Amino acid sequence: MCGIVGYIGKRDVAPLLLEGLQRLEYRGYDSAGIAIHAGGKATGLKMVKAKGRVRDLEAKVPARFKGTTGIAHTRWATHGAPSDENAHPHMSGDDKVAVVHNGIIDNASDLRAKLSADGVEFLSETDTEVLTHLVARAQADTLEEKVREALRHVEGTYGIAVLHADFDDRIVVARNGSPVVLGIGEKEMFVASDVAALVSHTRQVVTLDDGEMATIKADDYRTYTTEGSRTTASPTTVEWEAESYDMGGHDTYMHKEIFEQPDAVDRVLRGRIDDRFSTVHLGGLNLDAHDARRVRRVKILGCGTSYHAGMIGAQMIEELARIPADAEPASEFRYRNPVVDPDTLYIAVSQSGETYDVLAAVQELKRKGARVLGVVNVVGSAIAREADAGVYVHAGPEVCVVSTKCFTNTTVAFGLLALHLGRIRDLSVSDGKRIIAGLRKLPGQISEILKQEDEIKKIAKGYAEARSMLFIGRVRGYPVAREASLKLKEVSYIHAEAYPASELKHGPLALIEPALPTVAIVPDDDLLEKNRAALEEIKARSGKILAVAHQEQEKADQTIVVPKNEDELDPILMGIPLQLLAYHTALALGRDIDKPRNLAKSVTVE
Ligand code: F6R
Repeated sequence: MCGIVGYIGKRDVAPLLLEGLQRLEYRGYDSAGIAIHAGGKATGLKMVKAKGRVRDLEAKVPARFKGTTGIAHTRWATHGAPSDENAHPHMSGDDKVAVVHNGIIDNASDLRAKLSADGVEFLSETDTEVLTHLVARAQADTLEEKVREALRHVEGTYGIAVLHADFDDRIVVARNGSPVVLGIGEKEMFVASDVAALVSHTRQVVTLDDGEMATIKADDYRTYTTEGSRTTASPTTVEWEAESYDMGGHDTYMHKEIFEQPDAVDRVLRGRIDDRFSTVHLGGLNLDAHDARRVRRVKILGCGTSYHAGMIGAQMIEELARIPADAEPASEFRYRNPVVDPDTLYIAVSQSGETYDVLAAVQELKRKGARVLGVVNVVGSAIAREADAGVYVHAGPEVCVVSTKCFTNTTVAFGLLALHLGRIRDLSVSDGKRIIAGLRKLPGQISEILKQEDEIKKIAKGYAEARSMLFIGRVRGYPVAREASLKLKEVSYIHAEAYPASELKHGPLALIEPALPTVAIVPDDDLLEKNRAALEEIKARSGKILAVAHQEQEKADQTIVVPKNEDELDPILMGIPLQLLAYHTALALGRDIDKPRNLAKSVTVE
């Protein structure tokens, strides 16, 4: 969603900030803006904003827009439509204060009414402008105190960066529920809401905690709480290199990330397998054998694709560790006053580690005394920090808005966790060996599937005209069908619906006709015959069928054959050809694949 970049140092700031904004484009946005110190307290701040893309903003930046300190933003509309006026930064009437803000100020309308009654003139419909005026009107002497005074009035979530014309040697930032990262350079400092904007300049970062503020100067930074007490935030080194954010010769990030999957899966397995005891080591898990044996249930929480990965994870845990397990959308869980049980192990799943609904569910669980593990991709992200312990999925940066490699790596991480729990409980050594052999086969088998791209591309052309598609799967195949249906609708905008194959005759069969193609997940497991019966039922009603199976399916019009692994691990592989199907269908329709309409990469607001 929204993105923040800031810089203070000796270099020309506008090109640096624009480059940072481009690196954040993947998060989704509708407008952008930039404010700089124009040099000298008397001149005030300069600002340019534009609805549309970063390139539209760049085109509006005048040649004489020079300075060495500035802040910039990409906005995703919440309060007020996308427009030049509503784009950030928001500036005070005297051009002295500029603020960029991620998050939502819940009491913005009350504050706006009070400020208006005091004669403040508003230029936008945003909640952020309220903050700008509060900082500008604060009576304190220092910028830090002014920001602190303003924040005392606001309720809600924020990651902010503030520039003030009278304090041209610093940028003040604050975090509450929306990420803020400082990047430490050589006599220069950066700030951003996402390390993606920083890694081409520095990999030394400091991630602020909620309730923390920082002052950044060209050669120094200081962190403290919103109440003013000093904190010690030590820099860490970001693992991901700047090149991992490049397109690497592919036409889209989605394509690149689909094809990175063999390497990504290799990474999540690396160093974790213990052949001696036919188990795995998960360093960050913090769950000894005694604790693991006392777990009576597992509850997995995530949103969207991560929820689907959690559904696959729940089945693996139930099958391999024989612990009752289920997955639920975190967005639903947190609103239904759930019974929180001390013997349940809660697992929060998130690629970004910043999804607000997941974070809020974790915070609610912890407040009620539950033990929460994180299965997260972004190291040091809010959910990773909030969880008691966890497993990183090591997929590398995922730039395309729709998730592919991270989904796959998350399912593999769940395979590891299920094996670990299973071997502490009743899974035999030989079953442990069998699963380890299966895990090791995955990277090679994914490469085999990806070699079928040309055939899948041809198949996809045949579906580009469809108005709607049905995806079906049974038990292990059902979450695969759900994820494949989500992928197709996100990138191609074709309506798609996923159903358990076992439920066909309870309703969806009424939809079957030649114009509604069905994609069926048909693994070679103990449910093969039942799945074949579903294909018969569809065929009998002249429905067109594409099967994803371990062998050609006679009743299907087309079959994509994928390599067989162990039954429990098959779901990891069966969705991969359907990522390519979604990709090539969207390509045939000319969609904006990496940035589908209305979607953002990380949903940091409610
Ligand atoms: C779908 C997709 C979304 C995310 C969801 C959760 O392709 O990317 O459905 O999976 O918004 O995001 P994370 O995993 O970052 O919590």
